[in-house]
Amino acid sequence: MQDMKVLRFENPGRDYCLVVADAPVPQPGPGQVLIQVTAAGLNRADLLQGRGLYPPPPGAPDIPGMEVSGTIAALGPDVTDLTMGQPVCALMAGGGYARMALADAGSVLALPKGVDLAEAAGLPEACFTAWTNIVDTGRLADGESLLVHGGTSGIGVMAIQMFAALGHRVFATAGSDGKCTACRELGAARAINYRTEDFVAAVMDATGGKGVDVILDMVGGDYVQRNIAAAAPWGRIVNIAYQNGARTQVDFTPVLLKKLTLAATTLRGRTPAQKQHIRDALAARVWPLIAAGRIRPVTARRFAFDAANEAHAAMAQGGHIGKILLEL
Ligand SMILES: NC(=O)c1ccc[n+]([C@@H]2O[C@H](COP(=O)([O-])OP(=O)(O)OC[C@H]3O[C@@H](n4cnc5c(N)ncnc54)[C@H](OP(=O)(O)O)[C@@H]3O)[C@@H](O)[C@H]2O)c1
Repeated sequence: MQDMKVLRFENPGRDYCLVVADAPVPQPGPGQVLIQVTAAGLNRADLLQGRGLYPPPPGAPDIPGMEVSGTIAALGPDVTDLTMGQPVCALMAGGGYARMALADAGSVLALPKGVDLAEAAGLPEACFTAWTNIVDTGRLADGESLLVHGGTSGIGVMAIQMFAALGHRVFATAGSDGKCTACRELGAARAINYRTEDFVAAVMDATGGKGVDVILDMVGGDYVQRNIAAAAPWGRIVNIAYQNGARTQVDFTPVLLKKLTLAATTLRGRTPAQKQHIRDALAARVWPLIAAGRIRPVTARRFAFDAANEAHAAMAQGGHIGKILLEL
């Protein structure tokens, strides 16, 4: 069996590092494809995995990496809708920090016209996460407004662009004036520097006191109560992370009075069929907007495969706007 270069975590915990190692090239089973990887997208969850706080779901490879771009190198026996050599990007539960990576065919998307193949590695995790949390769980309807916390995160830069392009009024928060400018350039109607402004007051002011219909939150902690205050009647608040803490004291009275829905979801452990459902929606609704140049991947920095520790340090430091990529 052929070997390939991969990255593995060594010394999991606070002082983890990534080391280059050899591993057998995986073979695609039914419903899977093998991708020769051009680039892998970094995700904050990769840092948590290195620290031993976010193990891969059962059955997923222990090699990190949840999204890649590249070309199809082998097809599983029953895969008919993808072709050898096709440039693609794909979501996966693990195994992306490698020269060759397996993906479920239903989690693969064709490279959109006009997009650089390496930069496409930054699309899957952000697009799948933003779409399913804002549309499937958040039920964002025509004419409704959206607040995206972490507007310049890998997730945020896609969420702002996608829903601004689909005609929604999008608000975003970010931690500096420079990041707020970037949010506005991506399509946010109003960007709020959370270090100098109260986002609840800003959103209430911008909506004439009504509040915002859907909130995508990755902060948690005191944002839970403040999101409730910023939500419009019948609003939906969806958490994808609790970076400021998953424990907090909440007064649920306004949830009741405003008839709000509070939700939280993860993407990684969903079934291939559930991911395919999101993939199909992205292919129909978002990929044409990317091909038309109305949405673009936002790449903060690219690192070489053997500089993966520097890439992780850059994400931990947090100055980036958009995605950090590893080039394989
Ligand atoms: N549940 C899921 O399925 C799922 C899927 C993907 C990602 N996620 C989560 O989504 C988050 C973003 O992921 P990513 O890979 O895009 O990470 P990332 O690029 O590193 O972004 C992290 C973001 O969090 C913001 N942030 C951190 N602390 C904050 C605070 N106290 N107040 C306001 N904003 C704060 C940062 O904003 P500033 O830099 O402006 O301070 C930054 O934009 C991560 O927490 C990740 O775990 C969840």
